[in-house]
Amino acid sequence: MEQAAVSDATTASNRNEAGDPFPKPRDAENMFSDSMENPPFSKFVSQAPARLSHPMVAAEFSSLHIHDLKMPLTPETELDLLFNPLLIPQAVREALPRELHIRPQASSDHLRSHLTVLSVLSPTPTVAPGEYERQFHAQRACPDTYYTLVILNRETDQIVATGTLFVERKFLRGLGLVGHIEDVAVSTSQQGKKLGFRITQALVGISEGRGCYKTIGNCSTDNIPFYEKCGFRLKDHEMAKYTKDTPQMQKL
Ligand SMILES: CC(C)(COP(=O)(O)OP(=O)(O)OC[C@H]1O[C@@H](n2cnc3c(N)ncnc32)[C@H](O)[C@@H]1OP(=O)(O)O)[C@@H](O)C(=O)NCCC(=O)NCCS
Repeated sequence: MEQAAVSDATTASNRNEAGDPFPKPRDAENMFSDSMENPPFSKFVSQAPARLSHPMVAAEFSSLHIHDLKMPLTPETELDLLFNPLLIPQAVREALPRELHIRPQASSDHLRSHLTVLSVLSPTPTVAPGEYERQFHAQRACPDTYYTLVILNRETDQIVATGTLFVERKFLRGLGLVGHIEDVAVSTSQQGKKLGFRITQALVGISEGRGCYKTIGNCSTDNIPFYEKCGFRLKDHEMAKYTKDTPQMQKL
C-alpha cells in the first residue's frame, strides 16, 4: 500500500504551470526579503500588541527566549518547498505523534533551527539567511535529485529532526538510480523517540518510489545498530579523503 502511494505520487505532475516544482512557489527573488519581513513569529507579536503593552506582561515577554513562544505550524501553502510533499509515504505521516509534522524542507527553514539540528551530526556554522536560501534554490534547480525532510513540532514551528536523500544517476545497471541517505539528525532532547527511524523510513520510501535499485548511507560504528533497525545491512567499507585544509573533526 505504502509503496503504491509513493509510486502514484511520483508519476503525478509535481510541477506547476510555470514548470517550477510543486507546490506553486512564491517568487524566489522575493523570498529573502519576504521571509525576513514576515517571519513566523511576527504573527504572534502583531496579534498581541495590547497584551504586550502592559509593563508586567512586557517584562515577562522580554525575558522569554524566542523558542519559548508558541508559534503554530506554518501551513505548507505559505512555504516554498523543496519537492512535492505527496512523495512522503502516508504510513510515516500516520505513525508520527500528533504534535509532530513531517514535510519537505522549506527555503525559510533557517528560521526553524534547521542548522542547529544538523549541528548534532557535524559542525554546522550559522550562515546568512540569503546564503541558506541560495543553497536551497541551487539544490532545487537540480530536479528529482535532492529530497530533504524535516519533522517539526506543531506548537513551536521548530524543526526537531531532519534527513536528506540524494539521488545519483548512473550509467551502469541500465542507467540505474542510487539513493544516498545523508545527514540524518535528531535534536538531542528528542533522540530515542523513533524520529530518526521515521525520517529514514520516509527517505527510503521516496528512494524506492523514485525507482532506485538500492539505498545506501555512511555512518559511524556506533550508529550501525540504528541503521540495522531501519532495515540496512553492513556492506563494504567507506573510504574518505579530506582535503589538506579541512580542519580535523571528530564528526563526519
Ligand atoms: C542516530 C540518530 C539519527 C538516531 O535517531 P533517534 O531518533 O535517536 O533513534 P530512534 O529512536 O529512531 O531509534 C530507532 C531504533 O534504533 C535504536 N538505536 C538508535 N540509535 C542507536 C545506537 N546508537 N545504538 C544502538 N541502537 C540505536 C533505537 O534503540 C531504536 O530501537 P527500537 O526500535 O528497538 O526501539 C540520532 O540519535 C542522532 O541524530 N544522532 C546524532 C547524529 C548522528 O549520528 N546521525 C547519524 C548520521 S549517520
